[in-house]
Amino acid sequence: MEVIINIAVLASGSGTNLQALIDASDLGADICLVVSDRPGAAALRRAEAVGIESRVVPWADFDSRAEFTKTILGEIESSGAQAVVLAGFMRVLSGELIGVFRNRVLNIHPSLLPAFPGANAVQQALDQGVKVTGVTVHFVDEEVDHGPIIAQRAVPVLPDDDLASLHARIQVEEHDLYPRVVGAFARGELNVEGRKVRWD
Ligand code: GRF
Repeated sequence: MEVIINIAVLASGSGTNLQALIDASDLGADICLVVSDRPGAAALRRAEAVGIESRVVPWADFDSRAEFTKTILGEIESSGAQAVVLAGFMRVLSGELIGVFRNRVLNIHPSLLPAFPGANAVQQALDQGVKVTGVTVHFVDEEVDHGPIIAQRAVPVLPDDDLASLHARIQVEEHDLYPRVVGAFARGELNVEGRKVRWD
């Protein structure tokens, strides 16, 4: 695999999207660092299993979002990462990091944004009774789940779906879509013009 850029992946939970990135054969990116805000996150074990450097930056250790973010930014900068990929990272980062990595922070969200931003997007879709939801990959800006949209996939909501069944079908799409988008980004194929992202 040709490595074009180094990326840092931030993850809070099980890390199945991190695993999809690790397993991708043509990502065009080397994951040089994994950062988690949760000491026991399974994502850390996935990194360790393949020899990727990891750091824990516990949210509870900080008095402010700015200090928390500054510490993460320091770790990312010393790792040599040129971009940041959020993969189930459940903390909002402050503007300083977004400014340093403008249009170089990617996030994956389990809904068709701008519908259902924030936490519990899958439950929100069920509660709203929508017939279609999905996945969005977007660049991160200063607002939560708001930056320029890179790619989306629709996922039907079935009559008997519950949180687990719907999230599982959404994750199938996530694991296919995220490596493709990160690969396109690494190869320089994504061009951002205002809110619009052109995929060349
Ligand atoms: C994914 O559904 C992602 O869209 C959301 O958080 C979940 C993370 O899952 N941001 P995992 O930790 O990658 O398994």
